Amino acid sequence: MEIRSVRELELKGKRVFLRVDFNVPLDKRGEITDDMRIRAALPTINYLLEKDCSVILASHLGRPKGKVVEALKLAPVKKSLERFLGKSVMAAPDCVGPEVEKLAGQMKEGELLLLENLRFHLEEEKNDKGFSERLAKLADLYVNDAFGSAHRAHSSTVGITEFLPSGAGFLLEKEVTVLSKLLEKAERPFLLILGGAKVSDKIGVVKNLLNRVNTIILGGALAYTFIKAKNWDVGNSRVEYDKLDLVKAILEDARKRRIEFHTPLDHTIANKIAAKATYIITERGAIPSGWIGVDIGPKALEEYKGCIGRAKTIFWNGPMGVFEIEPFAKGTMEIARALASAAAYTVVGGGDSLAAVKKAEVIEKIDYLSTGGGASLEFLEGKTLPGIAALQEK
Ligand code: 3PG
Repeated sequence: MEIRSVRELELKGKRVFLRVDFNVPLDKRGEITDDMRIRAALPTINYLLEKDCSVILASHLGRPKGKVVEALKLAPVKKSLERFLGKSVMAAPDCVGPEVEKLAGQMKEGELLLLENLRFHLEEEKNDKGFSERLAKLADLYVNDAFGSAHRAHSSTVGITEFLPSGAGFLLEKEVTVLSKLLEKAERPFLLILGGAKVSDKIGVVKNLLNRVNTIILGGALAYTFIKAKNWDVGNSRVEYDKLDLVKAILEDARKRRIEFHTPLDHTIANKIAAKATYIITERGAIPSGWIGVDIGPKALEEYKGCIGRAKTIFWNGPMGVFEIEPFAKGTMEIARALASAAAYTVVGGGDSLAAVKKAEVIEKIDYLSTGGGASLEFLEGKTLPGIAALQEK
């Protein structure tokens, strides 16, 4: 089923509720450390302004769980938006209520109003009908450009569509196009690179892509559960024992399908996960007792670079090691650089991988950076994302 696009809505002079994902990382001083999600929403915002709309911007920030949390107010986002748009953005004191309704009612063509954090109200995450209606009351039309939140069935992503004519913004459309291409018509060889902390976060993607990819390479803590499943020693590295049977079944399935399935041939191992740890490189894939795997080793890196060089399509999610600690960052940085110089069509998703691409200074050389972490993974798992389903023609 097709999703309705913002282009199909009668926009001229209308008041539009635009759901964006401005859930951006903040440092201790409350400064935005990565504004990619704000920049990614600009084409839809500008399009609405060109159509003489007044635009109500709504987002969550963090997980305040229904309470007003000072540090999670959207003031830093307002500042950043004003800089990008070159015009002022009004700030609402809340996201619903008479005062906000009054502000929305007074808006003129071309004006912007940023609502306060949607998650200061518990009803938002409950997809509460009354709350959805209160949000809808603010506008004539609804546009969803918050791909990063499309896996959440909340009032501002799902419930509101019951009350207003709705459509998808350009970012959401682009994400769906790129990720659908990976699922449906990726040029082969298709390489999947997965890293990060937990097997459970990525297993759904591995399962769903098993009949689509040619090669899978693993790094990060999740690799140790796969290594353990091969009956190799992993020392004190983290293993998800409750996932071992599942992982064994996946390895067997991959073998039958003749998929190249790589776990690291060697590792950087440390006596603890800390900047001042003692660390060495192993000879092979097994890890001796008392040591923790913290990065892929040089042999693994060479092998992985070879896979990257041969691929025509690559999706990467999750770092290869504890890349926040300098001596353990090499694997992740080198993978980011290898992707940047690959001939393949490259897609990177997930906060940590995006941070790695940024740290390696190769952002411009990646074909597509997904603004969705959890959302892009769930999409590639083959799940129907509620925020997208809600925009399908009813
Ligand atoms: C994200 O950062 O992945 C989205 O903004 C969703 O945030 P959430 O995981 O808190 O729902």
